[in-house]
Parts: sequence; C-alpha cells; structure tokens
Amino acid sequence: MTIRIETERLVLRPMEPADVEPHIAMMRNPATARYLAPGGEPRDRADEWRAAASYLGHWQIRGFGFFSVLEKETGDWVGRVGPWMPDGWPALECGWSIDASRWGKGYAPEAAIGAVNWIFERFPDLDRIISVIDPENTNSQAVAKKIGETKTGEIFEFWGYKLDIWAADREPWLQQFGR
Ligand SMILES: CC(C)(COP(=O)(O)OP(=O)(O)OC[C@H]1O[C@@H](n2cnc3c(N)ncnc32)[C@H](O)[C@@H]1OP(=O)(O)O)[C@@H](O)C(=O)NCCC(=O)NCCS
Repeated sequence: MTIRIETERLVLRPMEPADVEPHIAMMRNPATARYLAPGGEPRDRADEWRAAASYLGHWQIRGFGFFSVLEKETGDWVGRVGPWMPDGWPALECGWSIDASRWGKGYAPEAAIGAVNWIFERFPDLDRIISVIDPENTNSQAVAKKIGETKTGEIFEFWGYKLDIWAADREPWLQQFGR
C-alpha cells in the first residue's frame, strides 16, 4: 500500500533510504540538534546515520513511522513529521523536525495536521495524540499550540531530560482540524 498525504504546500510519504542523507544534513545543524540530540550538540555523521536507520526500522517494526516532508514547489526534502513510538515511549507521538532552511513557513504545523489526520484514521481507538517537548523548545511549543495541543502537566524523562507531554484529544481535534 502506498502512503501519500498531500497538504496545500507539502507531500508526506514514509521515510525511505534516499532520505538518509538530507536527514543527516538537517540534524547536523546545531540549531536543529539543540533539543533533539543528547547534550544538545550535533552528533557526528555515523551517529546520525544510525539514528536515521532507526527511523526507517521503526516502519519495519511498527508498520508506521516518520513521514518525509517534501516541498511541492521544489520537490526538495524538507523534514520529517509523523508518528513515533519506540519502545518505552509514553504513548503514540506526532513528532516534527524541519530543515532550518525552511523554518518559519508554517511547514511543521501544516505537515503535522496532515499526519495527525492519518494517525487518527489509522488508529480508530486512539483517544489522544501526544508530543514530547523540551520545556525550553519554544519553536516546538508554538507548533503544538498551532495544532491544538496543550501542555498536560505530565513529564517524561529521557536521556536525563525532563520533557513535557503536550496532547490533544481525538474528538475535539478532529472537529477542529479533521479533513
Ligand atoms: C520546531 C520546528 C519543527 C518548527 O518548524 P516550522 O516549520 O518552522 O514551524 P513554524 O513556521 O510554525 O514556526 C514555529 C515557531 O518557530 C519560531 N521560528 C520560526 N522561524 C524561525 C527562524 N527562522 N528561526 C528561529 N525560530 C523561528 C517561531 O517562534 C515560530 O512560532 P510563531 O509562528 O508563533 O512565531 C523547527 O523549528 C525545528 O525543526 N526545530 C528543530 C527540531 C525540533 O526541535 N523539533 C521538535 C522536537 S519536540
């Protein structure tokens, strides 16, 4: 089954091997790595290659995973957005990372709305979608707010960080953002 999600300016499709290089390039940017890598510093190429392999492997193991985000206008790979639930994760998350060359265009919320619609359709019993966000990551908090998530007060500890859980409940979310 081919999975393809189209939004106004973007196309989302499952991450594939050809996306590993642009993904490494995105993650090697210190601004992007700040809240995504242990220690807040960019990891070396080999570590980022392994991380990208885990995103591809998530699809194999779970049958779902991050979507690559492609810009319709240029066809460029511009980020990854979508469902993420590795072992030990608190719940099914919608995550987002956009290449720094495209920040500020509203791509993350646009892609996330497409992805969360797909998630709620794929998992009819899922009551809520969460996002795990560093308390200092204001860019990501802005995305969460734009897609109707609120901070729940729950904390998830990972890599020694205390991370906030943001969430939105299924029915009100679908009423506001459902396609
Ligand atoms: C968080 C992220 C995905 C937002 O993507 P985006 O497509 O730029 O989203 P938006 O355009 O809606 O911008 C979100 C906020 O980022 C900030 N922002 C936008 N452009 C920016 C820029 N060029 N430089 C710094 N911050 C910027 C603004 O605060 C903006 O909120 P606002 O629209 O209310 O002003 C992106 O910043 C990113 O990939 N960050 C690194 C990875 C990461 O932290 N992911 C989230 C992990 S929980």
